[in-house]
Amino acid sequence: MSINILTPDVYNRIAAGEVVDRPYSVVKELVENAIDAGATEITVEIEGGGKQKIRVVDNGCGIEKDELKKAYQPHATSKLADAEDLFTVSTLGFRGEAIASIASVSRMSITSDVGQGAYALSCEGGVLGEVYSAAGARGTEVVVSDLFYNTPARLKFLKTDSQEEGDVTNMMARFILSRPEISFLYTANGKVKFRSLGEGLPSAITVVYGASTLENCLEIAADKHGIVLHGFIGNRNFSKPNRTYQSLFVNGRYVVNQTVAAAVTNAYAAYLMKRQYPFYVLFLDVPQEIVDVNVHPNKADVRFQDNQIIYGSVYAVISSVLDGNSRAVEYLVGVKEELQKEEAARSSAVQTAHAAPQTVASQPMMTYEEAKKELEFDVSPNKNAPSEPRFYIPDPVRYEVHAPSASVAIEKREDVFAENQRLLREKERAKQEHVDVKSLTFKGELFHTYLFYEAGDEAFIVDQHAAHERLIYDRLQEKLASRTVISQPMLVPYLLDVNAAEFAFLTKNFQILREMGFEIDEFGSGCVKVSAVPTELMDIDLNAFFGEVLASMESLRAIRLSDLLKDKLASAACKAAVKGGEFLTDAEAKKLLERMDGDMGLKCPHGRPVAVKVKRSEMEKLFKRIV
Ligand SMILES: Nc1ncnc2c1ncn2[C@@H]1O[C@H](COP(=O)(O)OP(=O)(O)OP(=O)(O)O)[C@@H](O)[C@H]1O
Ligand SMILES: [Mg+2]
Repeated sequence: MSINILTPDVYNRIAAGEVVDRPYSVVKELVENAIDAGATEITVEIEGGGKQKIRVVDNGCGIEKDELKKAYQPHATSKLADAEDLFTVSTLGFRGEAIASIASVSRMSITSDVGQGAYALSCEGGVLGEVYSAAGARGTEVVVSDLFYNTPARLKFLKTDSQEEGDVTNMMARFILSRPEISFLYTANGKVKFRSLGEGLPSAITVVYGASTLENCLEIAADKHGIVLHGFIGNRNFSKPNRTYQSLFVNGRYVVNQTVAAAVTNAYAAYLMKRQYPFYVLFLDVPQEIVDVNVHPNKADVRFQDNQIIYGSVYAVISSVLDGNSRAVEYLVGVKEELQKEEAARSSAVQTAHAAPQTVASQPMMTYEEAKKELEFDVSPNKNAPSEPRFYIPDPVRYEVHAPSASVAIEKREDVFAENQRLLREKERAKQEHVDVKSLTFKGELFHTYLFYEAGDEAFIVDQHAAHERLIYDRLQEKLASRTVISQPMLVPYLLDVNAAEFAFLTKNFQILREMGFEIDEFGSGCVKVSAVPTELMDIDLNAFFGEVLASMESLRAIRLSDLLKDKLASAACKAAVKGGEFLTDAEAKKLLERMDGDMGLKCPHGRPVAVKVKRSEMEKLFKRIV
């Protein structure tokens, strides 16, 4: 058998498969080039799902007449001169492969004007034509027709036009979100799909997801150990049926990254039910030297130098905001400033000679390296918890039977600030928002499951199981946080035989397990002895429990064992709680309510609401007494 050296033409066509496999990836490469060229306006038109035609026009810097030919060459790039640059490059692409790849599998033409008249160069299936002078505006226009016309095998693998169009549309949505300062016009078969004005992120979110979305979001901005996280996240009640409503941009580029996704998902774990997914548009900006952006042929994922730090930082920020602890004030946009303003106003009112006291103590900033060291030892589940007072963040549509009309248009950024400020004021009023238990009268139960309480013109319906579950869960969490877990010694110690890796993992995490109330020790090599368990988890199946802990040892969840343990707590609480259908005496029903302390906005550990409020007027509407 003879060995053939592939001609560049054939090689390029094969290589093209790595860069462009579908219309959406062509759009992605072309738009990235336009962004790199500094465009502020980008138009994208597709026909036939992008198979027939893709046209991208930008008002960027353009390509010089003499450079047009070079742009088509493989490994031609203006963004990288030598290998050293690899480590500092910040543009969206740098392999100089995209145009060569696309040109080899389509009919392509580039028309560009750097300010000295427009010139064009076409290419058919990788065969270059000649540069000619053309009509065109300042910037660059790229047209790609008949994608994969010369690679029938690849063409066969494309999806239907409408499916391909859907993928392009998703891609465009991500571009609009990632570059809110650029105005995009995106049309498919002549119909306008998106038109963004380049007026910032809230406006971009409105373009992509509709006006009501912002009403359900919190705006965050955090800087943890040099890792900057900002954007919008859905509030605790705002869930989506799938993951397409999640966008992450690492250093400006849309990526799908498991570490960050897991951190966000776990932060929402207590608020969302199974098959509900959080909404987020998040920007993660990290120092370039700790992220490798070139690990994926389509640049669709990145690799972090240290997943733990990324996971830990993202999880800490999102969970603080959702759980509403004191740190949340630091992360919620607008809230901290508002608090400080109020504080300043108050202190100037009493004419003190001292400077306004800091309401929110800023955390001393740790560097990335310090954080890394810290994390290596940080295995305790709730290091800061005992000292953190809870900060009440009401959700805008909590426990209303009818959600407020979603049609109120939010157009401007101010509205988001206003939203955050409203949250702040509601925090101030939180005490009044809480229902005074004494004002409630128990009125009976339905189906041995729902308890009815009346207070003036309002009634509350409480799901007894959800409520009880939540209470047990909270108590466990509190005990964990304050390290007052009581252990129950076992008559016969439980012995667990493990392999070397598992043994190392467990011993490393002994401390966290002990804080939970487990009495756990080494028992010779490859064996671990459990001689006491936390009382709350007394009837836990230890085989299953440790099985699960060890199973997730390798996976991301094990990055923070404490997250897994939280899950365990939730299910243990669920088992221990009174079930729906069990009969509660009047006294028990009252007791349950007292223990809820009037917090009708609670959710059970699985994210189901505990209580629902019904107003008298709503009842009257039901019976058409009023309209
Ligand atoms: N819209 C545009 N405006 C100005 N210059 C462009 C444009 N598109 C491409 N170029 C020029 O053509 C070169 C080659 O583009 P190509 O997309 O093939 O490679 P790249 O962007 O450098 O790297 P990658 O393969 O990672 O996308 C770019 O480096 C840039 O100089
Ligand atoms: Mg490129």
